[in-house]
Amino acid sequence: MNKILAVIMLVLFTGVSVFGQDLSGDSKKGETLFKANCTACHALDKKLVGPALKGIYTTLSSEGVSKEWIMKWIMNNEALRKSGDKRANDIYKEYSEAAMDVFEGRLSDQDIEDILTYVNNPPEPKVEEAQVEVSVKQNTDTDSSKLLLVSFVIIGIILIITLFKINTLVKLSTKGTELSSLESHKIKNLSEFYRKYQGFSYFIISILLIISLYGVWAWLMGIGVDKGYEPDQPIYFSHKIHAGENKIDCQVCHSGAKYGKVSEIPSLSVCMNCHRNISEYNGKYIEPGKSKEFYTGEIKKIYKHIGWDEENQKYTGKQTPVKWTRIHNMPDFVYFNHSQHVVVGEKTIIAGYNKKNPNQQIDVVCKACHGPVDTMNVVRMSNDFTMGWCIDCHRTTEVDMTNGYNAAYFDKLHEKLKLEYGQDKSTITVDAIGGIECGKCHY
Ligand code: HEC
Ligand code: HEC
Ligand code: HEC
Ligand code: HEC
Ligand code: HEC
Ligand code: HEC
Repeated sequence: MNKILAVIMLVLFTGVSVFGQDLSGDSKKGETLFKANCTACHALDKKLVGPALKGIYTTLSSEGVSKEWIMKWIMNNEALRKSGDKRANDIYKEYSEAAMDVFEGRLSDQDIEDILTYVNNPPEPKVEEAQVEVSVKQNTDTDSSKLLLVSFVIIGIILIITLFKINTLVKLSTKGTELSSLESHKIKNLSEFYRKYQGFSYFIISILLIISLYGVWAWLMGIGVDKGYEPDQPIYFSHKIHAGENKIDCQVCHSGAKYGKVSEIPSLSVCMNCHRNISEYNGKYIEPGKSKEFYTGEIKKIYKHIGWDEENQKYTGKQTPVKWTRIHNMPDFVYFNHSQHVVVGEKTIIAGYNKKNPNQQIDVVCKACHGPVDTMNVVRMSNDFTMGWCIDCHRTTEVDMTNGYNAAYFDKLHEKLKLEYGQDKSTITVDAIGGIECGKCHY
């Protein structure tokens, strides 16, 4: 009897402890291999392209998955799927058929053992919560160009005044009005000088005048922030790599767009959610003229700014803000609200855009105004963001009458429309609900 109990105890004991205990790889080596091969799609503690991998071996073992299966999967998931393995095909479907890389020929069995040892039980990094604000630099480019233009204008005015002054003096001296000898001497010299170089000075003055007139014109036309504006940023952050290649949703970083007036530039803590693990660039995509080393160097800049000690995996507390240059910036007298467009208008803006542009359909609402940001390495302004542009869209985009907010007002709107457009107006566009009233966009 006692013997049987002992055997049961032994089985239970080994049965429980076996999960994770039969991994005998080198965790340190595993960490390096994991970062180099897996972090493009996996993080330890959250889902990226693939599932979170912390404790994965223990989890899978407890679900009855064998070590052999896990090794096979990592080595060559494609072959495993093709062999008709049910679990492999199920998980592939669960992750909407995103294919994991094949590592056959790139990793040895020992390498995989090392990686599993590391991810199953990674050493806890000591982390103090990082709080770095992102300071957004206003467009100094335009500020300085405005300054330049204003100084041109001032120079122009000074020149015109001088011209008049000289002219009167010349007239005075030729009329021979009585003057003190000192003054007449001065004037004689001046007028002689003036006569001698008259042609030349007219030439200079007219050039300066033209420049300053151009300055005034350009200033009035609001030179500077314009369609195509594409400034360099302190960290070479590529939307193509994040939103395009890695399919990261815009709102992972610009979470403000849905809930508030502004979209906001993400803080470095948001970057660290992923870049605590992704410390090197190993993507397939490399922009012409750039290199893997360049991208890796840019990632290290995050660590420098947020004060992350990579070696010891902890924050040092030494932080410096990143000064992103603001690209889109409405004048202060304009009221623009993202959530109104991103939440309430989402469906109709996408539908309206796709109707107008059958050749380049959009999937996320952001692209209707910001263009194909997921293909841009450097963000550039895709529209002119003028009043005419806002109004044009309000005139042509239908309002979603099924959303809760608008449905409540439907009756009132319908009455208003009958009055304004007659009975047969079948579609309701934004202008009809007040989208071209000055007060809606101007304070
Ligand atoms: C190109 C992206 C990509 C890379 C690189 C990648 N994986 Fe995956 N991984 C996935 C996806 C996606 C899944 C989910 C299953 C699927 O869709 O095929 C997955 C699933 C897994 C699973 C879970 C299997 C299960 O049954 O739950 C493990 C374990 C795993 N990967 C380990 C690794 C390891 C270790 C590496 C590095 C050597 C790695 N992966 C590299 C994309 C990737
Ligand atoms: C991984 C984080 C991340 C994701 C995902 C992301 N962005 Fe960004 N975005 C940033 C950062 C950082 C900046 C500031 C640096 C820059 O301008 O490139 C920025 C800047 C911008 C700007 C310019 C802001 C300004 O100064 O006017 C726009 C517009 C923008 N993003 C739109 C998008 C859209 C649309 C998507 C989805 C297709 C997207 N972003 C996805 C991080 C992200
Ligand atoms: C949701 C995950 C995620 C977030 C959040 C994120 N990144 Fe990345 N980042 C990635 C991935 C994935 C790669 C590509 C790595 C690879 O392919 O090896 C990458 C690559 C990079 C690179 C190299 C390529 C390039 O774009 O120049 C830089 C620099 C970078 N990230 C900066 C940032 C900054 C700055 C932030 C915060 C504003 C940020 N990342 C936020 C996932 C993320
Ligand atoms: C209807 C047009 C429109 C849509 C849709 C739109 N934006 Fe914007 N976005 C703007 C305008 C206009 C500005 C300039 C706002 C300002 O200066 O006050 C802007 C500014 C920004 C900025 C700079 C920071 C800020 O908030 O001022 C970011 C980042 C941004 N948008 C991201 C996004 C993302 C991400 C989406 C999708 C979720 C999106 N936008 C959808 C028009 C739009
Ligand atoms: C791509 C199309 C599009 C563009 C561009 C656009 N809007 Fe809109 N806007 C909409 C839609 C659709 C709605 C209606 C949302 C709803 O159903 O309430 C709306 C609603 C509004 C409203 C609320 C109107 C009301 O009566 O409640 C304001 C204010 C507004 N937009 C301001 C702006 C400003 C300012 C700009 C330019 C910087 C702009 N919009 C550019 C599509 C657009
Ligand atoms: C849909 C939003 C919207 C509505 C409605 C609107 N405006 Fe504007 N308005 C703007 C935007 C955006 C700008 C800034 C354009 C720029 O910076 O180029 C602007 C700029 C202006 C300017 C400055 C001159 C300029 O073009 O830069 C004046 C003046 C103005 N609006 C008057 C009006 C009047 C009057 C009405 C009512 C008939 C009105 N607006 C209705 C969005 C709107």
